Amino acid sequence: MNGKVNASKLALELIKDEMVIGIGSGTTVEIFLNLLGEKIRREGIKVYGVPSSYQSMLSAIRNGIKIVDLAEKEPEICIDGADQVDSKLNCIKGGGGAMTREKIVAFASKKVVIIVDESKLSEKLSIPVPVEVLPFAYGYVLRKLSGICKPKLREGSGKIGPVITDNGNLIIDCDFGIIEDPEKLDKELRSIPGIIETGIFPSKIIDAVIVGNSKSARKIEKS
Ligand code: 5RP
Repeated sequence: MNGKVNASKLALELIKDEMVIGIGSGTTVEIFLNLLGEKIRREGIKVYGVPSSYQSMLSAIRNGIKIVDLAEKEPEICIDGADQVDSKLNCIKGGGGAMTREKIVAFASKKVVIIVDESKLSEKLSIPVPVEVLPFAYGYVLRKLSGICKPKLREGSGKIGPVITDNGNLIIDCDFGIIEDPEKLDKELRSIPGIIETGIFPSKIIDAVIVGNSKSARKIEKS
């Protein structure tokens, strides 16, 4: 938990008065938003935010961030977590099932900064890639995916049956083993009709990753 807190504290230094921020999702982002809420109250600053999920929208509101739409404002910086980050700063996201809106907010932002604890770092990406699938296309997409990976429909806890995303869709977690070319795989997956988005965030859209451990945090800029 301290790694997430230390990464969030370093990211907080990037946020200034009157800024519009893209807001990712997950527990690290929740910690960041709570710290930002304290900063807003302490310094009397104003921060606008475009959230990527119901979770981050409610947390942003609780913390005094004014919610805006992408039609009104272009976020200057997007702060988001990740499930795995490779040595080139490619990421896998979607552990919370919010990757489609997260990716839209990230692409729409001028800068993208990922905050993680160091357990998320890996030389290469290797955890299952979540893909968001239109329910109508489920059978077709599952057959296509079965030819290239080990696919598994994500099931919920707290409700029987599949997880339904904030967009009303299904999630299939796709195990490819070690991923040699994340950007190519992302494109290949998105070429299957019915796949709306994937959890692969190619390094070309990531500006920096802030990595926290139990004592401190460091910022890795893209080389
Ligand atoms: C949600 C995400 C999260 O950012 C990712 O799962 C990391 O979560 P956490 O900060 O809780 O470890 O992609 O869709």
